[in-house]
Amino acid sequence: MTEPTFTPRVFSGIKPSGGLTLGNYLGAIKRFVGMQGAMDTMYCVVDLHAITVWQDPKELAHATREVAAGYLAAGLDPAQSTLFNQSRVSAHAELGWIFNCVARVGWMNRMTQFKDKAGSNAEKVSLGLYAYPSLMAADILLYHATHVPVGEDQKQHVELTRDIAAKFNHDFGVDFFPMTDPVIDGPATRVMNLRDGSKKMSKSGESDMERINMRDDADTIAKKFKKAKTDPEPLPETLDGLKGRAEARNLVDIYAALSDTTSEAVIAEYAGAGWGRFKPALADLAVDKLAPISTEMSRLMDDPAEIDRILADGAARARAIAEPILARTYDIVGLLR
Ligand code: TYM
Repeated sequence: MTEPTFTPRVFSGIKPSGGLTLGNYLGAIKRFVGMQGAMDTMYCVVDLHAITVWQDPKELAHATREVAAGYLAAGLDPAQSTLFNQSRVSAHAELGWIFNCVARVGWMNRMTQFKDKAGSNAEKVSLGLYAYPSLMAADILLYHATHVPVGEDQKQHVELTRDIAAKFNHDFGVDFFPMTDPVIDGPATRVMNLRDGSKKMSKSGESDMERINMRDDADTIAKKFKKAKTDPEPLPETLDGLKGRAEARNLVDIYAALSDTTSEAVIAEYAGAGWGRFKPALADLAVDKLAPISTEMSRLMDDPAEIDRILADGAARARAIAEPILARTYDIVGLLR
């Protein structure tokens, strides 16, 4: 049987839970902008994913607009990309349910992010947190998306999406859902915690000093990089010399991603430099890149009605793609409509 061809389409999303970090920017948003124009691009604010852990309703609405403002301020253009919030397109939840009936409990039990998040509290977390990866598969497959730009931490979820698509296609004897490719490229697909290079930078880490927030001011950014954990050695001559130096490697990778170059090129430029030279250069670069985005986010957040209008318009466009795919899924499964 020949494989059906699917039109290339990009889908990705960010949870509106807390503020955006430099990890979200370099691992996701900046790369979303890079793919805009080359393919059909859809970027979602995944509010239904955010509520898998408790969210204060007022803060959720604010955080949803703030992620949208981050998208826009970083350069996503609603005329070129479909920007919307997930809950406005009810087909996500409907396809998510069908996938709950396709995915196996054993598959969910292997999800490392669930294990990390639930920790020793696994009996008390929401059922939604456990089922989360099958909703993520629905987000992607509802649009027959072929490419999903994400950070390294989401790779396993995109692989699960492929397993769900394959099982659905096999069980119903169709070639309906595509095999989606995760797109994980560039120097900063895993931005690490500034105080502990073995942990990912995340919005939920205990100390604010561990992360750069997209809306940190220039002084805060400079202070956080200055206090970032490193080691006493200067920067080596080659990238190999950063082996076993996780914190140093992380700062080099961040520099490379912010300046649109490779980590090799950064090492070539700063070989032999001490932290007293490298850290201030990194802080200046980060401020240079983030300050205009942060200023634009503030301006956009002053006009929430305009953000809501953009998200509603994007949702209408998303529904026009999602609804026929959901309808066809219902037919395949044998659900009367
Ligand atoms: P979320 O909201 O945790 O993160 C959003 C995006 O940011 C990336 N990211 C990072 N990249 C590099 N270094 C870091 N320290 C870092 N922290 C976060 C994430 O990899 C992600 O790409 N389940 C997803 C959201 C989601 C989704 C989807 C993504 C829901 N449905 C469908 C793609 C397609 C999540 O929780 O991402």
